[in-house]
Amino acid sequence: MKKYYIETWGCQMNEHDSEKLAGMLSNMGYTSCDNKKEADLIIFNTCCVRENAELKVYGNLGQLKPLKKNNPDLIIAVCGCMMQQSHIVEYIKKKYPFVDLIFGTHNLHNFPVLLANCRQSDNMIVEIWDREGEIVEGIPVIRKYGIKSFVNIMYGCNNFCTYCIVPYTRGRERSRKPDDILNEIKNLVANGTVEVTLLGQNVNSYGKTLDNPIDFADLLYQINEIEGLRRIRFMTSHPKDVSPKLIRALKECDKLCEHIHLPVQAGSNRVLEKMNRKYTREKYLKLIEEIRKAVPDISITTDIIVGFPGETEEDFKETLDLVEKVGYDNAFTFIYSIRKGTPAANMKEQVPDEIKHERFNRLLEVLHKSVKEKNHALKNKVLEVLIEGTSKNDDNILMGRTRTNKVVNFKGPKELIGKFAHVKITEPKNFSLYGELI
Ligand code: 5AD
Ligand code: SF4
Repeated sequence: MKKYYIETWGCQMNEHDSEKLAGMLSNMGYTSCDNKKEADLIIFNTCCVRENAELKVYGNLGQLKPLKKNNPDLIIAVCGCMMQQSHIVEYIKKKYPFVDLIFGTHNLHNFPVLLANCRQSDNMIVEIWDREGEIVEGIPVIRKYGIKSFVNIMYGCNNFCTYCIVPYTRGRERSRKPDDILNEIKNLVANGTVEVTLLGQNVNSYGKTLDNPIDFADLLYQINEIEGLRRIRFMTSHPKDVSPKLIRALKECDKLCEHIHLPVQAGSNRVLEKMNRKYTREKYLKLIEEIRKAVPDISITTDIIVGFPGETEEDFKETLDLVEKVGYDNAFTFIYSIRKGTPAANMKEQVPDEIKHERFNRLLEVLHKSVKEKNHALKNKVLEVLIEGTSKNDDNILMGRTRTNKVVNFKGPKELIGKFAHVKITEPKNFSLYGELI
């Protein structure tokens, strides 16, 4: 049996694409392995949202050269968002000629054919589609977890935030038909899934491209009816598209978890406008207020970029102020990274690196205070936890997630893995929670 090894960078969308690659490979008789040295096929599924992610891919590709030398039959494939950019493909062709196959995000479903061609060819095979095609249904998937599953509801993005490369690598917004989504989830539930995460670059604008348009809230109400399903999550939301109907759904759908990831990116209206985010800080804060009014204990997480071109000390202070005002449960924080081909890359007034780093550290300080406060407020609360496995650091400790998407560690028998339990939070720490099974 041939063995494959997949390394994935980037978001859940990429993770889920890798699950599809694994599904297709399994149908071709391949099995997975955890060690590159044992593999007959190595796939790198890449991300280009920031320069760091790209540099990691290049570093890791370089390390494959000796493996290929030792085993000339080894097939090395590179795919994902980076490959949708021609300058990157050209660079890989020149610098890493030992790569066997390059394909992109829009032709992932053709992978079996590409791999078959590759096995019969001595030359590097490069096939990238510039544009998205029709949505392809029925791709086999091997999921990382049995109990919780990712489900794509839409692909692509039409927002063109000026810093972001995604609209160029994932194409225009298009939604899967509700029946295809519902059937996939019903099937998953029949096979043991209790939690689904609905994926899309901007799930709030779901449904607009359908022949019979329905909106995201309608879809949620329908998914909420699926028997046997216990938890529904979704990501990512764009604040400009959060409708009162969605807020009502958050309140009314019992399976919808009390968590929303609502990327704010910046706290200054001047920067938000230059980012093309289409909302103001006032609108964002009002939205948070309305969401909290509907679901008081909801946890709120976000994405923040520091050092966007032209960001002044005053602008940055507005971001700090917004972080304090909202009181986030957690956040992904990023230093602005120039992405070739995006409008922000050509903006004057790029912020010097030292200032970006200094602001980043100040942001973390304010943020950590808020995360800590949120965690400490949970002391002695009893929360429902879905047990995913054992703790990363200690195999004798169980690890699960609350509906609010917080990780809880506690002692308990391993038979509980995959099940729900109630846990009393006894020891809230700054970045994690410890509890006791009750
Ligand atoms: N630089 C830094 N962060 C970025 N993100 C997207 N593009 C960039 C960039 N050029 C961040 C945004 C987005 C998250 C997925 O990545 O915060 O929400
Ligand atoms: Fe990028 Fe903005 Fe689309 Fe999110 S909404 S993927 S940040 S362009």
